[in-house]
Amino acid sequence: MTDPQIVLTERVQQALARAFGAEHADADPLIRPSQFADFQANVAMSLAKRLRRSPREVAEAIKAELSDFPGTVEVSGPGFLNIKLADSWIESQAAGMRDDSRLGVGTITPAQTVVIDYSAPNAAKEMHVGHLRTTIVGDSLARLHEHLGNKVIRQNHLGDWGTPFGMLVEHLLDIGEPAAVAQLEAGMGTEFYQAARAKFDADEGFKQRARVRVTTLQSGDPDTMRLWHVFMDATVRYFNKVYSLLGVTLTDADLAGESMYNPMLQKTCDDLESSGVAVHSEGALCLFPPGFTGSDDKPLPLIIRKSDGGYGYASTDMAAIRYRVHDLKADRILYVVGADQALHFRMVFASAQMAGWLPDTVSAEHVQIGMMLGKDGRRFKTRSGESVKLMDLLQEGVDRASAAIAERGYDEATRTEIALAVGMGAVKYADLSVSHDSEYVFDYDRMLGFTGNTGPYMQYATARIRSIFRKADMDPADATAPITLGDPAERALALHLLGFGTLIEEVTARSEPHRLCNFLFETSSLFSTFYEQCPVLRSDVEPETRASRLALCALTLRALETGLDLLGVPVPERM
Ligand code: ARG
Repeated sequence: MTDPQIVLTERVQQALARAFGAEHADADPLIRPSQFADFQANVAMSLAKRLRRSPREVAEAIKAELSDFPGTVEVSGPGFLNIKLADSWIESQAAGMRDDSRLGVGTITPAQTVVIDYSAPNAAKEMHVGHLRTTIVGDSLARLHEHLGNKVIRQNHLGDWGTPFGMLVEHLLDIGEPAAVAQLEAGMGTEFYQAARAKFDADEGFKQRARVRVTTLQSGDPDTMRLWHVFMDATVRYFNKVYSLLGVTLTDADLAGESMYNPMLQKTCDDLESSGVAVHSEGALCLFPPGFTGSDDKPLPLIIRKSDGGYGYASTDMAAIRYRVHDLKADRILYVVGADQALHFRMVFASAQMAGWLPDTVSAEHVQIGMMLGKDGRRFKTRSGESVKLMDLLQEGVDRASAAIAERGYDEATRTEIALAVGMGAVKYADLSVSHDSEYVFDYDRMLGFTGNTGPYMQYATARIRSIFRKADMDPADATAPITLGDPAERALALHLLGFGTLIEEVTARSEPHRLCNFLFETSSLFSTFYEQCPVLRSDVEPETRASRLALCALTLRALETGLDLLGVPVPERM
C-alpha cells in the first residue's frame, strides 16, 4: 500500500484506538491535503465534542500516539494535526511503486462480472455526437474494470429494431441494394432515413407497403430478415469505421442490439403478467413501480406492451436486464446513456426489483452522459441546423491536429500518424475530462490546445519524457536507480505519484474518469515544474542525482502512459 493518504488513515486510526479506546478505530481521521504540510488530519475537531475535551487536547493525545510515525506531526490552530512525511519514507514508497509492474494498482478479488452497456447508436439514423460521448466514456470504464481484473462484458445495445424498419426496408428495395449499401456504409444513415420518411408522409402506397413490411419483419419472414440484415450489416460497417478511427475496444462480438431481445419479449411480458407484477391499464400491459407519479399525481406506468400489441424500448430493457443478471451473471451493470433517459432507467431498475429480477447483490447504475453543446451553448448542430456526422467531426479533429504540427518537419507518414493520435486524443480527452453527467461544450480550439487540461498537453508531456531518454540514449525501463529527493519539486512529484493506485481504484468504483484526467493533468504540471528546477542530463549533475532523476522521469512516464491507456487516449512516441 503506497498511497500516503491511506497509510495515514490507518496510522491515525491506530493512534485513535490507543488514545481513546477501540471503539474509535474506524473513525474517519479526515485526512486532507494541506497547504501548510503534506496532509492535515481534522478528526480532533469532531471527536472533541463527543469526548467533551478541547480539540487541542485531543489532537495532542493523538500526536503522542504517533511517535513512531515516519515524519513529523504538529498540532496547529484550534486542533489540526499537520503531518509531514519523511523524505526517506516517500523515497522507499516510490521505489516500491517503481518495482511494481502494476504501479500500486490493486486487483479486485473476487473479480466481478461487469456488464457495460455503451455506445448504442440507432441504426435508423446517423450515429450522432451524443453517441460519441457514451462510446468514449463507456470504453474507458471497460478498460478500467479490465485493468482491475474484472470480467467485462461489453453490450452495444444498438437501436436496430422497431417500426421505422418497415419503411427503411421498403426504401432499400426502391433504390436497390447496391445503392443502399453504398449510402449506408458512407455514413449517410440520416439521409437514408429522411428520404424514407418523406415518402412515408407523402405517398399513401409507400406507407401501406411500409406497414405491411413491419409485420413481415416482426413475424421473422426470411426474405424480409435478409433485407434487414443487408441494411444492418452496411450500417454496422460504418459504425465500425468510426470505432476503429476512435480506437475503441468494441467489436462485432459485443453487438447486442434491441433485435436480439425480440424473441424474448413475449415471454418477458407473460412472466411479468402471470406473477402479477404487470397489469393491464387502458389496453396496455404496464408496470407501476412504487414511487413514480406523473404531474397529475397518478402512478406512472412503464409500458411493456402497447395497446396495439407492439413492444417498445421499455419492453426490450426489461428483457435485457433479466438476461444480464440471469444469463450473463452480472455483479454490476453500467448503463452509459444520455442523462435525458434518467427517468426511464430509474423505472426499469425499480420494475426489475419489483419483479425479483434485480437482487440486492447486483447493482444496476445509470452512468448519465450530459449533453454535448455547441459553442453557442445549445445542442450541438451544424450551421444549417443538421446534426453533425460523426465521421466528419472526427476527421476535422485530425485535420486540425495535422495543421497544428505542420511546422515540425515530420515526413508525411509520421505526420499522419501523429495527427491521428493527437486529433483522436484531443476529442476523447475532452469528452472524458468533464464529469460525465455535466453538459459540455464541444470546442476544437480548446480541446486541441497544447496547454491546459487537454489530450495534446498530456501526450506532449509523455513525448517530452521520451525525448529525455532518447537524448540519454537509454530505455526508460532501465531507469531503476534509487530515487532520492533533494529538491522540493522532486518531492512534490513523487508524493503525488504515490496516489496513483488508490485513484485508479476509486475512479473505477465510482465511474469517474474525469478524476483520472485531473490526476494526469496534475502529474504533468508537477513534472513541468520538476523539469524546470531539476536538470537531468546537464553535465554538472552528479551521476547519482542524474540516475535518480531519470528514475523519477521513468516513473512519471509509466503513470502517464498507463493512465492515458485507461482513458483510451493514444500516446504518440514523439510530437
Ligand atoms: N439507442 C439508445 C439511444 O440512442 C440507447 C440505448 C441505451 N441502452 C439501453 N439498454 N437502453 O438513445
